[in-house]
Order: sequence, then C-alpha cells, then structure tokens
Amino acid sequence: MSERGAILRTVGEPLQIEHITLAPLAPDQVRVRIAASGVCHSDLSQATGALPVGTPCVLGHEGAGVIEAVGSEVHHLTPGTHVVIAWVAACGQCWFCARGELHLCRNAIRDTYSMPYATDSEGAALFTSMGVSSFSTATNCLARAVVPIAEDIPLEIASLIGCGVATGAGAALNTAPVEHGSAVAVIGLGGVGLASLMASRVRGAAELIAVDPVASRREAALALGATHAVDPADGDVARQIRAVTGRRGADFVFEAVGRQGTIETAIAATRRGGTTCIVGAAPPDERVSLSAYDLYMHGKTLVGCQYGSVVPARDFPLLLNLWRTGRLPLERLITGRIGLDDVNGAFDELRRGTGIRSVIVND
Ligand SMILES: NC(=O)c1ccc[n+]([C@@H]2O[C@H](COP(=O)([O-])OP(=O)(O)OC[C@H]3O[C@@H](n4cnc5c(N)ncnc54)[C@H](O)[C@@H]3O)[C@@H](O)[C@H]2O)c1
Ligand SMILES: [Zn+2]
Ligand SMILES: [Zn+2]
Repeated sequence: MSERGAILRTVGEPLQIEHITLAPLAPDQVRVRIAASGVCHSDLSQATGALPVGTPCVLGHEGAGVIEAVGSEVHHLTPGTHVVIAWVAACGQCWFCARGELHLCRNAIRDTYSMPYATDSEGAALFTSMGVSSFSTATNCLARAVVPIAEDIPLEIASLIGCGVATGAGAALNTAPVEHGSAVAVIGLGGVGLASLMASRVRGAAELIAVDPVASRREAALALGATHAVDPADGDVARQIRAVTGRRGADFVFEAVGRQGTIETAIAATRRGGTTCIVGAAPPDERVSLSAYDLYMHGKTLVGCQYGSVVPARDFPLLLNLWRTGRLPLERLITGRIGLDDVNGAFDELRRGTGIRSVIVND
C-alpha cells in the first residue's frame, strides 16, 4: 500500500514529501500507522549533516501510533494496540541488555538498519531513520522496539515520549538521578531540556536554574517551575549560576544544546563534587577541552546521556503516568500541530527557537 513520508534525499536540502511503499513485513516486525510525530533537534541535525545519516531516508524518530499488522513470529502484540516506538530496539540478549543497559544494546543498530523498510515511488530502497521513520503515514519497525500504551492517552502526548521526553526526563531520573533538595541547572530549554527540568522538579530539586538565549523559552521554563532564569547575554553563565548557588555551582547540570561551548560551560557551572550530564548531541568531530587538574581536584562526575538511559517498557508507562497525574505536564511542550507537508517549517522554527515542540499529526 502506498504511504507518504518526508524523505531526506540530500543532506542540506529540504525534506521532500513523497509516496513510499513499505516492504512486506518480516517475521519480527510490526507495521505502525503513525498518528503523531514530534520534531526533534536531532532530525534537523541529521538533515543538515551535523549528525550522521544514511540517505535517502525517511526521517522522524519520536513517533506514536496504532499497530496495523504483525509479522508471523510476533505473538505478544495485536493489531489495534496503541504504541510508542523506541529508537533503540534493544535485543534483550546481549551483554549490555543483560546488565539492564538497554540504551547501549550491541545489536540494536545492526538489526535496525538491516530490517526491510521501504522503497520510493521509483522502487529505490530507502533507509529508515533509527528504526522509526515517523515523518510518515505508516512505518515498519522491529516488534521489540514498540511499547504498548493505554488507549486513552492522546497519541500526540505519547509521541513526545519516544525521544525528547525519554531522553530529557530520563537524564534526571536515570542517567544522573537528581537528589531531593538539589540545585539543578539546565542549559538549553527545548523539548529535551524542559523535560530534564520537569523531571528534576518531580525528584524534588530545590533550585531549578534555566539557561537559554531565547526569552520565550526561559519564560516557558519559569512557567514549568524554574526558580531562576539565566540569559547568556547577561555574561558568563557559570558565574551567573554560581551567584545563585552559594558561589558553589549547581549540584547537577544538564546540557541539552550539544555544542562545545555549552558543554564546557556546564562543567564549569557544576559544583565541586557535583555531576555534569551531557544530553545534547554534538557532531562526531566536536571536541571539548577539560582541565585535567580540575577534574581530580574538584571531584566532579561527567556523564554522557544516551536516550535517558531508558528501559522503554519500564519507563514509557512510568513517564505517561507522571503525565496523567499532572506531574509532567507534557502538553505544555507542544506549541504547534502541523501536517506532514509542513515539516520543513517545523525545522525553521527549531532553527529560530520559536515555540518548543512541533508535532506532526496525521488525519
Ligand atoms: N542524547 C540523546 O540521546 C539525545 C536525544 C534527543 C535529542 N538530543 C539532543 O538534545 C539537544 C536538544 O534537543 P531539542 O530537541 O530540545 O532542541 P531545541 O533546538 O528545541 O533546543 C535547544 C535549545 O538550546 C538553546 N541554546 C542554543 N544556544 C545556547 C546557549 N549558548 N546556551 C543555552 N542554550 C542555548 C536554544 O535556544 C534552544 O532553546 C540536541 O542537541 C539534540 O540533538 C540528544
Ligand atoms: Zn530525538
Ligand atoms: Zn542487546
């Protein structure tokens, strides 16, 4: 059946909305009719070449929808089930999965990129984007990548769980668990950073310091419970953070921009003995510079965050339950509902920092 998808044909060029044909389902796959897909900065980074990507591909990795068909060996899922698609399809068998580090699964990438996916209208093979390819009307993914969710949860809320919220909230819940009473700083207030901020609040942070050059994003953070807003234009950010944390620096600093400068600032703004968590996705060739002396003298912990260290089947329902009870007001992240044809406009908004999250909603 012919579907539609937003294809990245050439890095640096706009996405093209085209007809695509999904491959016949493999025994271990499911077909998901996509209801909603958030637009994440990592999609933009792939489209511009800042992050590696195979082309031509259908982008989108923050999707939710309804299972339409299951492969012959899939017995635990049925058509009609509402799901969020995880962009790490953990195998459950490897050394990392056995340790519970599903986000680091040794086999996820190989299995994701070797599964049958789709062709374009000329019959040429398309790459999947991270096994999700949710900028589309429907997708093929590995059954082990989908997490069933309750049917009464709006799928546009559920879609955010697939990347931005899993990553940002997971950073503060799993990767660098925030201790109650802590001073937390978040640098970069997009969907990812604001999810770190909300989850830090859930964990009982006392101070929540929100840093972003865009005024509307600082205001969004204050509305979500930030206690201080810091504008980098007002001077050295680490100094501004120290000024509101007893001159020590924050106990936890989450970097959700993905640039050398903000990563170095995040480390500098962390108190002695504190934790810096790098959530932003910088290009593979970006380097950061650290003082070796400071590292041991100041006893800081520096931790990288891949996908919020999530265990999807455990954490996706947990995050949605926090939403349901009003503790994680994810609806506040959605500032635009758009059609698939408007995806390039959503990229422009991400570049400008207008709004927070655009969600593509299929009819
Ligand atoms: N680690 C992971 O697994 C993972 C998963 C998803 C996204 N990411 C990455 O997380 C980052 C954030 O994603 P997003 O979708 O929230 O992006 P976004 O573009 O919505 O938000 C980024 C924010 O950073 C702000 N910013 C830019 N320069 C800054 C500066 N000097 N100081 C402070 N803030 C600054 C921008 O104004 C913007 O508000 C991206 O790098 C994305 O690729 C990583
Ligand atoms: Zn993402
Ligand atoms: Zn594994």
